[in-house]
Amino acid sequence: MITVAAQNQRVLSGMRPTGRLHLGHYHGVLKNWLELQHEYECFFFVADWHALTTEYENKDVIAENVWEMVIDWLAVGINPGMARLFIQSRVPEHAELHLLLSMITPLGWLERVPSYKDQQEKLREKDLDTYGFLGYPLLQSADILIYKAGLVPVGEDQVAHIELTREVARRFNHLYGREADFVARAEAAVKKMGKKNAKIYMELRKQYQEQGDQDALAKARALLEAQQNITLGDRERLFGYLEGEGKMILPEPQALLTPTPKMPGLDGQKMSKSYGNTIGLREDPAVVEKKLRTMPTDPARVRRTDPGDPEKCPVWGFHQIYSSEETRAWVMEGCRSAGIGCLDCKRPVIEAVLAEQAPIRERAEEFAGNPDVVRNILNEGCEAARDVARETMEEVRAAVGLVYDL
Ligand code: TRP
Ligand code: SF4
Repeated sequence: MITVAAQNQRVLSGMRPTGRLHLGHYHGVLKNWLELQHEYECFFFVADWHALTTEYENKDVIAENVWEMVIDWLAVGINPGMARLFIQSRVPEHAELHLLLSMITPLGWLERVPSYKDQQEKLREKDLDTYGFLGYPLLQSADILIYKAGLVPVGEDQVAHIELTREVARRFNHLYGREADFVARAEAAVKKMGKKNAKIYMELRKQYQEQGDQDALAKARALLEAQQNITLGDRERLFGYLEGEGKMILPEPQALLTPTPKMPGLDGQKMSKSYGNTIGLREDPAVVEKKLRTMPTDPARVRRTDPGDPEKCPVWGFHQIYSSEETRAWVMEGCRSAGIGCLDCKRPVIEAVLAEQAPIRERAEEFAGNPDVVRNILNEGCEAARDVARETMEEVRAAVGLVYDL
């Protein structure tokens, strides 16, 4: 069950448009998003600036990758009626927050993020000795903090970036978490709850502040969580006001580790473009079938009569994702006794993969044929994202002292 507090959390995640999506993205990330969109207020975005940090020489493919990726999201069932879909660079407030955060972020924090050196080594052929690449995780922090996201679904490799985000938020709140007109703003926010709730809130606050009544504090928090008519900014103000005179401007997010099993590639390693072992999400069925028919199997099975061991076979990884228990038992038995051939064994996998892809491909074609629909979805998503981002930036500018009466 999801608690009220959890429902009020905002989920944010982004994906870099670095090429066509494959089944690894589907089983790893997108299926997770599909579930989250039912449970939370979700913002999913295309991290096109993040792509540029490493692909700055490939300017000709970015726009196309963005377009195809959004179609992929829609085709697998990401629902714009539930989740906001947008493009990072169309919400330039991310860049402004990134800049302001850069003022308070020690260089060492960025240099120590493990992905910094790792990626530089891995992508040796690219010159990643750039300012933008060092700032990659801080830009990610801005992406997250600008929406005050509570939960960030990411893979293991991104956890250090969420950790950095938390540290930066903490430092920011510590330096700036005191609005000059905090009390006035909080009092205005109290009024917005309506007479009855405002009265209850003020009484509970008094009980807590004068008598340290923890029960009153919990009740007041629950009351705030249940308010539908106040903005997130006001809600946080009221949380701060409940306990004192300061305010959390940028709440610390949490990583939500993607729980799904790793999708194996055709060679048994993790499916990844850099290993060349992928099956595209919308790849042509004949090509998909050929790739699966020719994928390697347990090397011990040289002849049809040689017994094999599924544990040593990449096909088994596919059965674990796609096959019923019954089919898996048939594989185990048939492989170890040489009762089935490898092509027999692959048949149910081929069928399952093709069956999974058919409706995705069909929906993708529909979206591709109706570009205005996709454009509208993105324009609306960008607008909705900007509304939130603008509001946060107003608070942030005020907090750091950039307010002008012009
Ligand atoms: N760095 C992430 C990745 O490579 C993409 C990303 C950019 C992201 N900004 C984000 C993910 C904000 C979550 C939240 O996968
Ligand atoms: Fe792999 Fe199946 Fe062949 Fe066994 S029978 S080696 S599990 S493909």
